[in-house]
Amino acid sequence: SVRVVRTVAELRAALAPHRAAGIGFVPTMGALHEGHLSLLRAARAENATVVLSIFVNPTQFGEAADLAAYPRTEDADVALAGEAGTDLVFAPSAAEMYPAGFATSVCVGGAITATLEGALRGRSHFDGVATVVAKLLLAVQPDRAYFGAKDAQQVVVVRRMVSDLGIPVEIVACPTSRDADGLARSSRNTRLSAEAREQAAAIPRSLRAAQDAFAGGIRDPRGLTIRVRDELAAAGLDPEYVEIVDADTLEPIADLAGPALLAVAVRVGEVRLIDNVVLAPG
Ligand code: PAJ
Repeated sequence: SVRVVRTVAELRAALAPHRAAGIGFVPTMGALHEGHLSLLRAARAENATVVLSIFVNPTQFGEAADLAAYPRTEDADVALAGEAGTDLVFAPSAAEMYPAGFATSVCVGGAITATLEGALRGRSHFDGVATVVAKLLLAVQPDRAYFGAKDAQQVVVVRRMVSDLGIPVEIVACPTSRDADGLARSSRNTRLSAEAREQAAAIPRSLRAAQDAFAGGIRDPRGLTIRVRDELAAAGLDPEYVEIVDADTLEPIADLAGPALLAVAVRVGEVRLIDNVVLAPG
């Protein structure tokens, strides 16, 4: 079975003999689902050694209730990770990651953290993400690290941080893994009631409606976001945001000349869900 280590010292010792052959890394907060496993499989295909981290990072949660409600299923996670070909699991305690006296934060500034999730959840969310990802990358020192396109803004923020700090790692973005009805897989989906789960299916439907309109030649961002809003409203959903932004800079765009990111956040019952698609002129 897969070895689980709890400290950076154990992690470094375990990886030392395997470093030269190449290391792939998948950072997660656990409660593994098919989306996480798709990242592990991508890492498995491209690296001699695959490392998974499981750490529910307290500094990236806004509401204490959201942190408390976050599912913790380590035994099942380790078993699934093993089946997906993981070699080593790093599952540190909060004290290992943030010992007493911890005082450093990695803050990615500018438009990429001010918009979308940064505007709704506050920039401190991405300070928490950037700080923990920097620490994890320094602990593992992988050749490649794998992130999901489902959290598109997170990928942009991590790429910026890695570039700005000169962390020698290749960031690989993997496609969003979806359920049969199109809903993006998320650890939070398990908290949806049967009724909310049906409502939530309107999210991918709304994004497809915009993609269809885009394919049909609609280029006006308002015309496209209205299609998303109409589809969500038909399911009784009122989104927190529906935005079309430049896929690289996350700045608002007036005309869809280059690749654009269409991103939505919607509260369905108690659960906050995000999703996105890229609109790329063919
Ligand atoms: P977590 O939400 O556990 O997600 C871990 C990784 O899995 C992220 O890169 C996320 O984008 C990816 N992922 C989640 N759902 C996915 C899906 N349906 N399809 C494809 N990839 C998916 O994101 C985090 O944890 C944290 O912010 C973390 C980066 C670990 C830092 O704490």
